[in-house]
Amino acid sequence: LVVNASHNSTRKMPESLFGIFFEEINHAGAGGLWAELVSNRGFESGGQHSPSIIDPWSIIGDDSLLRVSTDFSSCFKRNPIALRMEVLCDNNGPNVCPVGGVGIYNPGYWGMNIEQGKTYNLVLYIRSSGAINVSVSLTDSIGIQTLATKNIIASDVSNWTKMEVKLEASGSNRNSRLQLKTNKKGVIWFDQVSLMPNDTYKGHGFRSDLYKMVADMKPAFIRFPGGCFVEGEFLRNAFRWKETVGPWEERPGHFGDVWFYWTDDGLGHFEFFQLAEDLGAAPIWVFNNGISHQESVDPSNIMPFVQEALDGIEFARGDPNSTWGSVRAAMGHPKPFELKYVAIGNEDCGKPHYRENYLKFYAAIRKAYPDIKMISNCDGSNAQLDHPADMYDFHIYSNSNTVFSMANTFDRTSRVGPKAFVSEYAVTGEDAGKGSLLAALAEAAFLIGLEKNSDIVEMASYAPLFVNTNDRRWNPDAIVFDSSQAYGTPSYYMQHFFSESNGATLLKSTLQANSSKTLEASAILFHNPVDKANYLRIKVVNFGSSTVGLKIVIDGLDPNLLDTSGSKTVLSSTDVKDENSFANPIKVAPVQSLMEKAGKNMDVVLLPHSLTCFDVLT
Ligand code: AHR
Repeated sequence: LVVNASHNSTRKMPESLFGIFFEEINHAGAGGLWAELVSNRGFESGGQHSPSIIDPWSIIGDDSLLRVSTDFSSCFKRNPIALRMEVLCDNNGPNVCPVGGVGIYNPGYWGMNIEQGKTYNLVLYIRSSGAINVSVSLTDSIGIQTLATKNIIASDVSNWTKMEVKLEASGSNRNSRLQLKTNKKGVIWFDQVSLMPNDTYKGHGFRSDLYKMVADMKPAFIRFPGGCFVEGEFLRNAFRWKETVGPWEERPGHFGDVWFYWTDDGLGHFEFFQLAEDLGAAPIWVFNNGISHQESVDPSNIMPFVQEALDGIEFARGDPNSTWGSVRAAMGHPKPFELKYVAIGNEDCGKPHYRENYLKFYAAIRKAYPDIKMISNCDGSNAQLDHPADMYDFHIYSNSNTVFSMANTFDRTSRVGPKAFVSEYAVTGEDAGKGSLLAALAEAAFLIGLEKNSDIVEMASYAPLFVNTNDRRWNPDAIVFDSSQAYGTPSYYMQHFFSESNGATLLKSTLQANSSKTLEASAILFHNPVDKANYLRIKVVNFGSSTVGLKIVIDGLDPNLLDTSGSKTVLSSTDVKDENSFANPIKVAPVQSLMEKAGKNMDVVLLPHSLTCFDVLT
């Protein structure tokens, strides 16, 4: 491998080359990164029927002791359903309640992770014609072991009353539930029941362990909130941002009919921008453009959708006195968010009316926000787009050989015109298993190709980011979790090898012909703000099954500037199909070691099926 570091063979890569794509899929948000422990907190998930199903809420007691139904008595206009609980037993008299009382419980998303010593903030709304005595508790999955309990006692809750209780856990159980119980006869209504751990990231509602895993990737941008989630199978079930802002109690929630689950929309339009800001990542908002999987709005009717998009941009970056900027300000963020990119739909290019409608969105946004970069769904990698755009989406899901060979895809793309946003890529199918080393290596080779073409590839993100193992709607994914634990797949760790590439200097590097069939390599110079030092990084994928001895020659750099030692980081394993798991979360993870003989000429050994990066101080 010959690396040329002379000035005329270097190029600065985009600051935002590698980032993340967060989609509400696989319970990535609801039951995932969004730390809310109660599922279906407003009892709305069954729809506006009376009685409506209240899943996953369940009843403690039987028909002779209590009757539970739903009605339209909520004090919240946009989510009118409340739970009505008629208690037939009492603490004395002929129909005595069982010890501990009767009531309802919520198991959260396949069990709540309750940890000893931690405090959980419970908020709920209550109404009753009489005095109430309700015990609220966190218990094990069958309600026997109590981890925390308090009583809500009130003599007058004839109007809806907000109650807030802090529950401190005296024990741990990762399969817990929240119980609301009483042994007092009468009727009680409950609505909007929320339970949040008090250690979310900066108090912003993000589950701290999952947030850290994302932050460790150092993403330069975050594309959100989907994916197909943005489109919906039908428009009525698409993500409509206006329904997800304002006080959480007033959000209606919605059924995402592509990934097929209910979300209370705690992680809404505001929270996505907050997440981007916390991560220091540029937000890229994908909005619904009047197209679902089944419908396309006629151009004559598209203007309300255009206005919805404009309003969503105003919400993010408008003046705090503007119509929608004031809603953001009221939510605690008067300062505008730095929204500079929007995508007009997702995977909709071939669908009816995409182009005609696209032009209307494009013109309106360009006029109101001339600096915003707009992303088209139409692939411009083979031919020029027939419409104006700043970038175009490029999605690739395929087997490992195809993805490996696609390292050269953008070599053939015209150097003029809009740039590519590889907003979804992954190896899928048999090669990928549930996240294999093989998949990660092919993806690494593909990303090396993107680095080399980063004059016309502006951004890239793996998809999907998260999966809750209890509801795997898409496979594979970068981060796997359940209520209490998480691990990264090899593809997650592979992305860490590229996190220093944002804004780095790409050097020209050439592999000799006889090694190039199974190898892909790139070389960059980057500045590490932590130790304030400059490094030369060489990344090499060995996609073959043999060990490779590689001679690396660095030209065009004063040899005295290169340190004589460096570090070597390897992602490999005994079997190319190896995966990580909860039991063995770092079976396939980067291993760093000292490289004793660094310098202008380096003889290195590449393990079979490996990704290696060599870092040398310059
Ligand atoms: O990443 C999973 C899905 O793949 C996305 O929702 C969609 O854009 C693509 O088809």
